[in-house]
Amino acid sequence: MRAAYIEQTGPPEVIQVGELPRPEPGPGQVLVRVHAAALNPIDLYIRSGLVATPLSFPYIIACDVAGTVDQVGPGCARYRAGDRVWGSNQGLLGRQGVAAEYAAVDEEWLYPTPALLPDNEAAAMALVGITAHLGLFQFGRLQPGEVVYVPGGSGGVGSMVVQMAKAVGARVATAAGSPERLELCTRLGADLALNYKTEDIPARLREFAPEGIDVWYETQREPNLEVSIPLLRKHGRMILMAGRTAKPVLPLGAFYPRNCALLGFAMFNATPEQQRRCAADMIRWIEEGQLKPIIGRPFPLAAAAEAERFLEENTLKGAGALAGKVVLEVGSGQ
Ligand SMILES: NC(=O)c1ccc[n+]([C@@H]2O[C@H](COP(=O)([O-])OP(=O)(O)OC[C@H]3O[C@@H](n4cnc5c(N)ncnc54)[C@H](OP(=O)(O)O)[C@@H]3O)[C@@H](O)[C@H]2O)c1
Repeated sequence: MRAAYIEQTGPPEVIQVGELPRPEPGPGQVLVRVHAAALNPIDLYIRSGLVATPLSFPYIIACDVAGTVDQVGPGCARYRAGDRVWGSNQGLLGRQGVAAEYAAVDEEWLYPTPALLPDNEAAAMALVGITAHLGLFQFGRLQPGEVVYVPGGSGGVGSMVVQMAKAVGARVATAAGSPERLELCTRLGADLALNYKTEDIPARLREFAPEGIDVWYETQREPNLEVSIPLLRKHGRMILMAGRTAKPVLPLGAFYPRNCALLGFAMFNATPEQQRRCAADMIRWIEEGQLKPIIGRPFPLAAAAEAERFLEENTLKGAGALAGKVVLEVGSGQ
């Protein structure tokens, strides 16, 4: 089968596209005929060697998958051949990735694809949607009517946070870096979309929510807690999920006397059951028209190295040419 893989960590050029043996589904696994695989910053960190995780070479890249069940392994109960499925959490913690014509995936990490959702969109929402859901609801305990702020509302995680917070009746403010991306944030439902390059974000947030922000969903790798913590409401929750090397200053006087909380998490620590609960809400919101995955730029599997270079330039180096997800289109998905 054709696959995008690496034999060693390094720059995007280490990604090769070529023939690898088709995997056999083991106990509890299904063999997915992959139609789309989505890329995330974690793929860049793993491929470059920045994040140490057990890798067996050749290591197939990409965490997010959508396709059709081709074959089921022993003991599988959830799916049958021909079912459309999507999921995340592959390529991590010793598992192979999914940027290949076929992937053997534990069925506990897969969910049914809504009938009207194309496979490239199903893959595009996987990791970022589950991450947005965990942060807002499991950690942020968001309630209807509360105020959410998420920087990067046109980004992978941010676009999901905006839509999910609106789906449960929150008021949502966000920020992006161009008029087109601000318009996208508004289309996704944001009540307030600010240009972080030209506007005074703290001042505008104080106008929007004079009593403060209930859930600040921080997506930036260099969060400025000296600015953001004082903008939280009493009992406000600060979600931290990016910036492994960051060492922000924490203004304690604005934090503990107002019963605020800092909540950090990584989605790959969530159990299959926890992730399944996120996926169930996502499927319902897709079917109800409240959630729309955003594809920024599709690439063919053969251009996997170019796709990672493009993601790296944008998500890590701020090139500003991406809104939404980078997706590898592998086969004949809908
Ligand atoms: N902990 C976890 O489980 C987990 C899961 C997923 C992702 N992450 C991490 O979360 C981070 C975001 O991931 P992603 O996939 O959403 O990345 P992304 O798609 O590149 O989104 C980043 C967003 O940040 C915006 N942005 C850049 N500078 C900004 C600023 N100064 N103020 C406000 N917004 C700004 C960008 O907007 P413009 O394009 O308009 O500049 C873009 O929308 C990454 O560091 C990733 O590693 C962690």
